[in-house]
Amino acid sequence: MDKFRIIGGKKLKGGVAISGAKNSALPCLAAALLTPETVTLRNVPYVRDLITMRRLLEDLGCTVLVPELRTHQINAGTVEDYEAPYELVKTMRASVLALGPLLGRFGQASVSLPGGCAIGQRPIDLHLMALEKMGAKIELRGGVVEAGASRLRGADIEFETVTVTGTENVMMAAALADGVTRISNAACEPEIVDLAELLTKMGAKIEGASTPTITVTGVERLGGADHTIIPDRIETGTFIVAAAITGGEVEITNCEPGHLQSVIEKLREVGVKIEQTGRDKLRVAGNGESRAPYKAADVTTAVYPGFPTDMQAQYMALMTQAEGDSVITETIFENRFMHAAELMRLGAQMRINSRSVDVHGPSPLTGAQLIASDLRASASLVLAGLAAEGETLIDRVRSKIEDRRSKIEDRRSKIEDRVGARKAILYPRSSIFDLRSQPAFSSGNTTRWLTTISAVTTNSFIFFWLGRVYIASSINSSRIIRRPRAPTLRSQAWRATARKASSVKRNLMPSHSNCF
Ligand code: EPZ
Repeated sequence: MDKFRIIGGKKLKGGVAISGAKNSALPCLAAALLTPETVTLRNVPYVRDLITMRRLLEDLGCTVLVPELRTHQINAGTVEDYEAPYELVKTMRASVLALGPLLGRFGQASVSLPGGCAIGQRPIDLHLMALEKMGAKIELRGGVVEAGASRLRGADIEFETVTVTGTENVMMAAALADGVTRISNAACEPEIVDLAELLTKMGAKIEGASTPTITVTGVERLGGADHTIIPDRIETGTFIVAAAITGGEVEITNCEPGHLQSVIEKLREVGVKIEQTGRDKLRVAGNGESRAPYKAADVTTAVYPGFPTDMQAQYMALMTQAEGDSVITETIFENRFMHAAELMRLGAQMRINSRSVDVHGPSPLTGAQLIASDLRASASLVLAGLAAEGETLIDRVRSKIEDRRSKIEDRRSKIEDRVGARKAILYPRSSIFDLRSQPAFSSGNTTRWLTTISAVTTNSFIFFWLGRVYIASSINSSRIIRRPRAPTLRSQAWRATARKASSVKRNLMPSHSNCF
């Protein structure tokens, strides 16, 4: 887990390119288990969960090559193990996505039951119910789901609750089943459609993705495919709020505005200036010239195309700066308000009820020490930290690793283009990388330091901020500084193992892998 220190209170300005969607890349990587041929996935975000998923596939016997950052070539021709162990499942619930494809292709799977998490119990009973309806024999032994079937058969599946990964697991299992599977009350998220597109390229017969009724006609075998992952709509939404909460201006590129219409509409309703400047471009100008405070507005999370639960925490942070009272109601997860109490530590005025929070604003926020509970909560605390006066310290930030080097290069080239002649004055080429020469930032630390900074939520805005802030700091802007921890015995031991591990990894991944 990481710790962030944020000095806030300044506008954000600049541009950022959105990464691929974490919640689409995860099921797409798992789908590669359905064929012995190579599946090439592009625009894969370089985030911790994807690294865990890649490790799971390798442990099952797959070969995963990364010819260039964000491109993964997965070959499941040599799978010899069908177990997703607890060590991996406990770090990433999405490991459960191996269940459907392993059962569908090999007729057996052993997946550790993912326990609860900060945002809710999150059972997988609907996944298991569906697979049993398709003929799987499922037993729960020692916290592990043992599933077996000679060959799954098509079935009519009605989900009592819309479940995203449940729909994905059944689609993948049904792709190789004998007969037709009809999923009713299916999830309609863009990530479901993206997975259906990949499976169709692999030879699956799927109709109705993006609607509540999906029909899958099983086939004998599936082949390889080449697929590009959609942009991350939650990352996009988080950037929009980042610009809005600091009254800044941000150009967002490589995004898919159509995938977050409900978020854009709600933010426009409260007064955020959002302009679509291209097919995949948005320009966010906070509250524009008027600097009129945002208007408070209620929101209720819902399944797609409703307001996404993964944007609820970030929206709550913004509502602390809006004029009036807003009620934020969470309908998807039963315990997704852990960030609310932390926001109150910054000075936000709220009353937390069982499934809703009443927010009164605007409240001036002042920096404080906070603890993050999950990925999206981390993002909302960082957003609020940037709007707060003074220093905010956030502990247990669930971070993600974004490929710093290429983002640094992108940023630096953009910045240098912009500052052109003033480069020598403001930001000599080597300054960022000189960090490596600082003893406190010796290689292991630098990697962890940069990794940490470029984390939070599914995107690199911290990075962007850092890039920006780092450079702008000589201009005027908020700063994010991270105090490197003194290397403890354990971290030295860890680094020794990491060095050994990374020497192994180096064979699999291209040169920049050592930033992992
Ligand atoms: C997916 O989780 C996303 N994760 C979540 O994003 C997202 O919040 C969620 O969908 C809702 O949009 C991935 O795609 C990897 P669900 P998932 O099954 O599939 C209940 C993030 O921050 N339920 O749609 O696990 C469940 O408890 C994460 O990126 C059952 O009761 O969510 C919840 O209340 C967080 N039984 C509701 O359904 C089941 O078998 C929706 O959960 C399955 C689900």
